[in-house]
Amino acid sequence: MAEGEETDGRTAVYTHGHHEAVLRSHTWRTAANSAGYLLGRLKPDARVLDIGCGPGTITADLAALVPEGHVTALDSAPGVLERARAAAAERGLGNVTFETGDVHALAHPDDSFDVVHAHQVLQHVGDPVRALREMRRVCAPGGLVAARDADYGAMFWFPLVDGLAGWQELYRRVARANGGEPDAGRRLHAWAREAGLRDVTASAGTWCFATPEERAWWSESWAERTLASSFATSAVEGGHATREHLRGAAEAWREWGAREDGWFAVPHGEILCRA
Ligand SMILES: C[S@@+](CC[C@H](N)C(=O)[O-])C[C@H]1O[C@@H](n2cnc3c(N)ncnc32)[C@H](O)[C@@H]1O
Repeated sequence: MAEGEETDGRTAVYTHGHHEAVLRSHTWRTAANSAGYLLGRLKPDARVLDIGCGPGTITADLAALVPEGHVTALDSAPGVLERARAAAAERGLGNVTFETGDVHALAHPDDSFDVVHAHQVLQHVGDPVRALREMRRVCAPGGLVAARDADYGAMFWFPLVDGLAGWQELYRRVARANGGEPDAGRRLHAWAREAGLRDVTASAGTWCFATPEERAWWSESWAERTLASSFATSAVEGGHATREHLRGAAEAWREWGAREDGWFAVPHGEILCRA
């Protein structure tokens, strides 16, 4: 079984897990390419909570942007926090601390932070509305709750090589069976309102992979993830795919990556809410 977390009887399994191919993909992320909607609002002395920090490259950027403030980086998986710690140490950042925790039940008192941020996390949790309520609880009045999630159903690409649409359907099926919501991007606005957050700015942001280097990196990362990450284990053990299906999906990724006219867009939903 892949890594998971207990949440009041509801269990969500983190679909990607922390296989090396997953971490290679996540460590490409920066605050500029993944948190642009928030950056203009960060004050140098802000107290930031980065939830589901993963290997921590965005976290390190946030810490550099609040030199007089502090970033608390939290993840439910202790192993990946070691990577995040190393990323901050490599950059000589002394204003970040790391802790394990669950976004559904944060250990921090009310009003502890000025900014509470989660990138690509709410799509993986059992109860995103409860998670957002917790994010608001630990955010000081007037502070910001910020979240950004991809939307797997909205991903689009060209050329339409055989097998990639099948991968998209399979990923969404497996993520839902694991208790998550892969089409989270389009739902963030609704979840925020359901959580009682009223001053909500909802936006969209996109990653696009089209140069030879981007195509090679993105396609190879997904080919490997399809074959060897926790996603593969969930897909096979859950009866959603056979190993042969997964090999076909990985081949589709490699075929797309080799196409000189290849183009792939990953749309995201974003919410910035006043607590
Ligand atoms: C897709 S990764 C995103 C990592 C990082 N924010 C980034 O964008 O590079 C999602 C992270 O959320 C963590 N996670 C999953 N469920 C969680 C929960 N209930 N509470 C806290 N972290 C969680 C996972 O362990 C994983 O490291």
